[in-house]
Amino acid sequence: MKNRNYDIETIINSLDQILNGNYKIHVDIDPQSELREITEKINKLSDDLLSSFSAIKKISQGDFSLEIKGTSGIAAGLKTVQAHIRHLIWQCKKAADGDLSQKILPMGNLSEAFNSMVTSLKNARDELADLNLNLENKVKERSAQLKKTYLDVIHALAFAIDEKDPYTHNHSKNVTRYAIAISREMGLSEGEIDIIGRASLLHDLGKIGTPDYILTKPGKLSPQEWEKIKLHPHKGAKILEPLEFLNAEAKLVLQHHERFDGKGYPKGIKGKSISLGARIMAIADSFDAMIRERSYRKALTNQEVITKLKKGAGMQFDPKVVDVLLKLLQKEII
Ligand SMILES: [Fe+2]
Repeated sequence: MKNRNYDIETIINSLDQILNGNYKIHVDIDPQSELREITEKINKLSDDLLSSFSAIKKISQGDFSLEIKGTSGIAAGLKTVQAHIRHLIWQCKKAADGDLSQKILPMGNLSEAFNSMVTSLKNARDELADLNLNLENKVKERSAQLKKTYLDVIHALAFAIDEKDPYTHNHSKNVTRYAIAISREMGLSEGEIDIIGRASLLHDLGKIGTPDYILTKPGKLSPQEWEKIKLHPHKGAKILEPLEFLNAEAKLVLQHHERFDGKGYPKGIKGKSISLGARIMAIADSFDAMIRERSYRKALTNQEVITKLKKGAGMQFDPKVVDVLLKLLQKEII
């Protein structure tokens, strides 16, 4: 009787190499005793029945050749290897989907290679995320700088217009101060107040397109000259229109000469059809004009200002905003 013990040893050695010595492999069966048992059973079988077992060959009376292809210990080893391979494939799929947080169980050089690969990929991905974040921050920073530069240029233009006429010196800044104080008293949000503040600084920007002789003319304007002046809200809004981040401000600039009773310009809209910001700016603008000297009149007294504001409530001005301004005047906040 021949057996193939050397095959079992070879397979065990191979498995040990594959598993890199991380698993203890043993075979539960005793080949000699099993073979003895098999031999006894086979001797009891008839030749015909024996021929149906292709793995068992009768060499002579009492001598058989038996080919042993596996044992329960080897099968368990192979199952372990299969489980590791399945685990490896699953982890590869997860890594391909972007999950680089997992490591695989010890499996010799293969696990080292896989774990090293996911570590390298994770490092590369983290580095890329850092670069993206830096890039995003730089774009935001540049974008903010660019917006500030635009605003600085536009403010410089608006202030230059104020400075053309000594009677309108600092007019835009004053209007901004009053409009912000009124907005705050009315409980508007900081975002709304910011928009009203910027729009107030830019409200007369469109006068850049008004001839100088009209802007600096001493005395009253002719009807034709007034028609030219009345174009400035539209011109100001047009200048701001291409700057998307100033769209809300452009709308207020367009409406700052509308009247509550609908008799203003350029569109003649009335009441709450006019944005609240523009209604506030209209009062702040007129208030600054009232309290400053003009080439054709002196500055109004406090009482004259109060009388004029009350008279204009519901006509030129939003009555609620007039009340707020009167309250601020009474408290001497303005
Ligand atoms: Fe204006």
